[in-house]
Amino acid sequence: METKLDEIAMRVTPIGNGTVIDHIPAGQALNVLKILGIDKTTEATISVLMNVSSRRSGKKDIVKVEDRELEEDEVNKISLIAPGATINIIRGRRVVEKYTVDMPDLIVGVLRCPNPSCISNTNEPIKSQLLVKSKNPVALRCVYCEQPITEKIADYLI
Ligand SMILES: Nc1ncnc2c1ncn2[C@@H]1O[C@H](COP(=O)(O)OP(=O)(O)OP(=O)(O)O)[C@@H](O)[C@H]1O
Ligand SMILES: [Mg+2]
Ligand SMILES: [Zn+2]
Repeated sequence: METKLDEIAMRVTPIGNGTVIDHIPAGQALNVLKILGIDKTTEATISVLMNVSSRRSGKKDIVKVEDRELEEDEVNKISLIAPGATINIIRGRRVVEKYTVDMPDLIVGVLRCPNPSCISNTNEPIKSQLLVKSKNPVALRCVYCEQPITEKIADYLI
């Protein structure tokens, strides 16, 4: 018998205050944790659900972080690897704000250009800049050397 999504999600103890990152494409939850700097040294309570069934997209991942609201640059990074993810801000156990992540048109200082001889990969004091040519499917291009990135975006996170 198929278990309803909400039953699965609610098996995890509800959080009082924090953030639920929902509708993450299946397989990207660990990259979201990496973006948020969550690792074995983290003391906050974190719930990670992977491959839960979703009416919208077949399978999805969910990350729940207690007592933390995300910074704009963290949300921008998440948009690169999890387009369509929703950010739910929880206060007093309830969703008080919800929005869908949106990829910026220009990504500055967040992703390394894949071209090793690009000026943004030298010792010059230049921040990487990738222009978003298409959001879905993701297609980026380096402003300096025109090198494209279309896959494995998480591998280029700085
Ligand atoms: N207090 C809480 N603790 C932990 N998770 C929560 C809490 N409240 C809501 N959630 C989770 O946050 C997400 C959004 O909750 P919401 O009630 O808006 O669900 P929804 O109506 O299915 O939203 P959507 O339309 O975005 O899928 C769900 O994954 C839900 O399980
Ligand atoms: Mg839902
Ligand atoms: Zn470049």
